[in-house]
Amino acid sequence: MAKEKLWGGRFHEGTAASVEAYTQSISYDWALYKQDIAGSCAHARMLARQGVLTSEEADKLVTGLTAVREEIENGSFQWKKELEDVHMNIESRLTELVGDVGKKLHTGRSRNDQVALDFRLFVSDRLREWQRLARALAGVFVEKAEAHVDTILPGCTHMQPAQPVSLAQHMLAYAWMLRRDVQRLSDCERRVRISPLGAAALAGTTYPLDPASVAQELDMYGTFDNSMDAVSDRDFVIESLFCGSAIMMHLSRFCEEIIIWSNPAFGFVRLPDAYATGSSIMPQKKNPDVAELMRGKVGRVYGDLTAMLTILKGLPLTYNRDLQEDKEPFLDADRTVSTSLELMAGMLRALKFDENRMTRAMTLGFLNATELADYLVTKGIPFREAHHITGEAVAEAEEQNVPLENLPLSTLQRLCDKIGPDVFDVLDYRAAVARRNAPGGTGPRSIASQLEKIKGWLNEK
Ligand code: ARG
Repeated sequence: MAKEKLWGGRFHEGTAASVEAYTQSISYDWALYKQDIAGSCAHARMLARQGVLTSEEADKLVTGLTAVREEIENGSFQWKKELEDVHMNIESRLTELVGDVGKKLHTGRSRNDQVALDFRLFVSDRLREWQRLARALAGVFVEKAEAHVDTILPGCTHMQPAQPVSLAQHMLAYAWMLRRDVQRLSDCERRVRISPLGAAALAGTTYPLDPASVAQELDMYGTFDNSMDAVSDRDFVIESLFCGSAIMMHLSRFCEEIIIWSNPAFGFVRLPDAYATGSSIMPQKKNPDVAELMRGKVGRVYGDLTAMLTILKGLPLTYNRDLQEDKEPFLDADRTVSTSLELMAGMLRALKFDENRMTRAMTLGFLNATELADYLVTKGIPFREAHHITGEAVAEAEEQNVPLENLPLSTLQRLCDKIGPDVFDVLDYRAAVARRNAPGGTGPRSIASQLEKIKGWLNEK
């Protein structure tokens, strides 16, 4: 039994079944098979270039590894729990297929640098996919923005009506968040996709390896500088999970808006049937469950990040088995982040905005009060005083239960004799949006230049 293990030489007795079950990682790290095989092929070819193996031996290893990959992909590969992890499952099948030369693959390598390589490749492959998905979602926000430059809605602070804004401005806010998410991922990826191969168990190796050529073959940005750091560092997982957390946080904020906007009291959006669910008891219900679940799943990704931070805290150098616990949090976050980005793109594309409901909501909450104050300033009244006069106008309008623009001119003039009939042009909600053309504002000129800039980014290769 003990002799069946790749590490079983010094053992006399087999592993307890409960220990095997507890320590195995194959039930989830099989997902790294592609990266493991790519890393092993690159390692074998490098060993041949360096004269550690003959080129015939390296060819046999590469052919064997390719055959193992085919078995995995056509479903005939038998994963064995007693072989612990993806690395030993693949190596042991390789040796079955190619004979004793299979036992040479691990020359100058340890599972410690092997697993770090596999996982760095896996995580960075996924970060590239997240970038693609986040950019695609930003593209949908931009499409919505372009379709709604002229749609206006109440902009809120403190979730209270504040000033009129263009729906395009609201949509673009999310596109900019997603652009930062993509930039963060691409920056992070440069630190993740670094090869630790050659660090061996912890101290480096005595074989004349060439780590740089392996990194190059695997399309990586560089190699490790310190073997002890290389085998024990997982801050690349932490960074990646933070990037995922920030994405989920951004998605969750928009989910919250969908949830509020789809409440009939707002009615700003209609949920597409394909993205809503009903109630088993209340026939009228159409619930925003997708948005709610996505908001909820943020907790899961934050949890994955917290798990990784906690796992690493207090680990002495170098490799410790605790590190095996790095895979499940990332796999969980990956599933969550990628499905959420994809689902949000579909849901947003299908979302119908109700422009009439948005227009109707404009007259609630005195969104044009700032306009009146600014108007008074143009008439030579100091802003603080203008603010006070406008406050009185709001109180008056509230009393009469009308929006500001429905107060008679005589009432406004009683509050300030500098007010003339031109005030009503200023109180117009669309005019309020149109005036805000300073860079980054909600005015049409600002929106046009935002659209140009962000579309330039979307089209970048
Ligand atoms: N399954 C292990 C992990 O994920 C592979 C490395 C094992 N190394 C060791 N020295 N036991 O961390």
